[in-house]
Amino acid sequence: MDSIGRHILDLSRRGLLRGATGLAALAALAPATRAQPATARFPFTLGVASGDPWPDGFVIWTRLAPEPLQADGDMPPSPVPVAWEVAEDRRFARIAARGTAIAEPGFAHAVHVEVAGLPPGRPWFYRFRAGAHESAVGQARTAPAAGATPARLRFALAGCQHYEHGHFTAWRHIAAEPELDFVFHYGDYIYEYAGRSPGQGGWGPVVRGHLGGETMSLADYRQRYAQYRTDPDLQAAHAAHAFLPSYDDHEVDNNWAGPHSEEDGRGRFPVAVPPEVFALRKAAAFQAWYEHMPVRRAALPRGADITAYRRLDYGRLLRVNVLDTRQFRDDQPCGDGVKRACEEVFRADAQMLGTAQERWLIEGMTGSPARWNILAQQVPMMRREFRDGGIAMDKWDAYPAARQRLLDAMAERRTPNPVILSGDVHVALAATIRRRPEDTASAPVASEFTATSITSEGDGAEMTRAGEELLRRNPDIALFHRRRGYCVGEATARRLAMDFVSLPFVTRDGAPRETAARFVVEAGEAGVKAGGG
Ligand SMILES: [Fe+2]
Repeated sequence: MDSIGRHILDLSRRGLLRGATGLAALAALAPATRAQPATARFPFTLGVASGDPWPDGFVIWTRLAPEPLQADGDMPPSPVPVAWEVAEDRRFARIAARGTAIAEPGFAHAVHVEVAGLPPGRPWFYRFRAGAHESAVGQARTAPAAGATPARLRFALAGCQHYEHGHFTAWRHIAAEPELDFVFHYGDYIYEYAGRSPGQGGWGPVVRGHLGGETMSLADYRQRYAQYRTDPDLQAAHAAHAFLPSYDDHEVDNNWAGPHSEEDGRGRFPVAVPPEVFALRKAAAFQAWYEHMPVRRAALPRGADITAYRRLDYGRLLRVNVLDTRQFRDDQPCGDGVKRACEEVFRADAQMLGTAQERWLIEGMTGSPARWNILAQQVPMMRREFRDGGIAMDKWDAYPAARQRLLDAMAERRTPNPVILSGDVHVALAATIRRRPEDTASAPVASEFTATSITSEGDGAEMTRAGEELLRRNPDIALFHRRRGYCVGEATARRLAMDFVSLPFVTRDGAPRETAARFVVEAGEAGVKAGGG
């Protein structure tokens, strides 16, 4: 018997179901548990997803919701068994693992299975069944074995997908990208804002409206995720590749910071939302995020607390530190916004990651076995000085002491090839990060790639006056490109190459995939260089 055959035996012995007739048995079991079958109507309207690959498995996800935009997806308030299968082949002739999960009403009938016991470094196919209904087929790759040195790894970087601002064409192109080991989603998966009608004024164009008002309750956030997830292009991307999901601000509230909502009693918001009240909103937002993301049980929130930072290793080639730059940070200094630094910016104990996460990250960068050490996070770390010398108070620029601690650690602990991934600002950027970002004569220690948005702020433009000014003032920024799109990275032992994929428009459907720029980092040489074949 080959090793995969043994895995089937092991899992069926341990699992709820035995033998090869598991799905059929389950189909018979579901109606028997209730008078009206919960799954009389097609329940897999939100598609399937996979995430957080380890060498021996990954999370597979689905959610039962016959009417996804209605409360609770129009599911009855009872648990429903869902059968799952993982196979070597798309036709499910060679099953590697199977089992049954229970879709709980308290979790919006979402299902998270942590599949384990699979061989490393190869593609897998998965599907679900509830009642007589079968889900779409999803695909994921197990990570390479711990000591392995894969010849290459490919990944995508994307986020900021305001549903109203455009079509998710970029996700359709990501779905078609060949052989991605993972898609890092840096956040702004949803936007919390109230729905607008096409033509209505405000921030960004409206090509399709949000349902409902600003999201505040669990029901609101669930409906918002469901609305986004009904998009076929987004579903296709989830079905095609494993994601590493994280969140930024809009999964909860614009520019929230630690216990503080955007309405923090300062600057534009003189009346603060009390932290204990904001905690209720965070708890609702985190629960809905967990319910809709293919993440491991370690990321299950406990009220307003969640542990979403984590580390994923891809053999000895790549280490990904997924960071949380929202939950543990100080409130934005100087009343937020873009302005010249006030004294508060230079506080010596500035926190962006919080002490526990910062210590965990530095430990993971010290003596790392990986050739490339990725900081997969949300807001740009590069220095961005704007017109009149202003900086953005929501980014690392306004937390310089925290940034310096990390850059010093990278240099002193000799972290191999640190590469920072970010997003949030709706523009594609590539930058060299120096030991002291304010001093362009100090030595380069890292490289940063910032993905533009999937849709946020509509079609955009390749260059703007502000972009020209930014490049003029910040010589370490090598690229500014303000169309919509995403990044695709390819890492080998020798170099990490990043393609900036751009779409000429998103306010109409069907934009082609264009490569706006390609930058590389050579191993052993911090900093970004244009071009490279
Ligand atoms: Fe955004």
